[in-house]
Amino acid sequence: MATSTKTQVLQILRTAADYVSGQQICEQLGISRTAVWKVINQLKEEGYEIEAVQNRGYLLAAAPDVVSASELESRMRTRVMGRRLLYLEEVDSTNLEAKRQAEQGAPEGLLVVAGRQEQGRGRRGRGWESPAGTNIFMTLLLRPSFAPGQASMLTLVMALAVARAIGDVSGLPVGIKWPNDIVVNKKKVVGILTELAMETDYIQYLVCGVGINVNQESFPEAIQNTATSLFLEGGRKLNRADLIESAMEYFETYYGIFCRSKDLEGLAGEYNELLVNVNARVRVLDPKGEYEGVSQGINRLGELLVERDDGTRENVFAGEVSVRGIYGYV
Ligand code: BTN
Repeated sequence: MATSTKTQVLQILRTAADYVSGQQICEQLGISRTAVWKVINQLKEEGYEIEAVQNRGYLLAAAPDVVSASELESRMRTRVMGRRLLYLEEVDSTNLEAKRQAEQGAPEGLLVVAGRQEQGRGRRGRGWESPAGTNIFMTLLLRPSFAPGQASMLTLVMALAVARAIGDVSGLPVGIKWPNDIVVNKKKVVGILTELAMETDYIQYLVCGVGINVNQESFPEAIQNTATSLFLEGGRKLNRADLIESAMEYFETYYGIFCRSKDLEGLAGEYNELLVNVNARVRVLDPKGEYEGVSQGINRLGELLVERDDGTRENVFAGEVSVRGIYGYV
């Protein structure tokens, strides 16, 4: 996909240490002065604060909180993840769109981002509230060359990447609730839904959808005790593109580490450091019989190790089983 002129102008302004002259932009992009002027005006209309000073040129003073294709493309420094970008103001679900793109041959690393979703999908057939303009709804397309059984671990890899991005951008004390909810102050701020298209023994493609409650100001009463946003916990609005950029960078690094061993050997330590339910009493909601114990972190397969009260150890596999804290959601 050709990079748009708008993206290129933004890239130039963003990487410049000082004012950039209109002439310099024209020459670099091989376009006319009028074309540059038009793009600058478009950007201003979209909320970018661009200072224009005679004889010096343009300076990007501030960017709005938008997650448009130009905004994201002009920032991405990854090699693969998020380098191809599809932004839709409105979509049924970014997971569904990523699957449609995959069926048409889109490459690994395609990131579908939406302003809002009409049929946001959650785990276990639930929905995912997807209001416009405040949160992140994105899905990454992967075409891994390993067996379907290994795919569920990628959700943990994404959880780790997004948790680290949130920590860096917000400075909030972020944790992971096994297997893949991200929490701040014991309330959920991120949900991840991974879906697979597979043949019997290989993965055709996999889409990993991430919903981050970023700047949402309130939640319905029914979920106020378990759900929150980064704004509600930190007291300041965050730039969504900063979070997406950072999440893609972390994911690219962690995915590389994952692919070397095709398990979580190189990541379990870091994951366990962020895990909120380590050395904590948990109730394991196993359809074959519920039990309580003390959780001790994940192993290289992403299973949660739980020591039962009688001393026996269980390897809990995500999927059918959920794990609850004894005193609430975490
Ligand atoms: C959960 O239930 O915790 C998972 C929620 C996943 C929501 C995200 S939002 C972006 C992507 N598109 C969807 O329809 N769902 C995921």
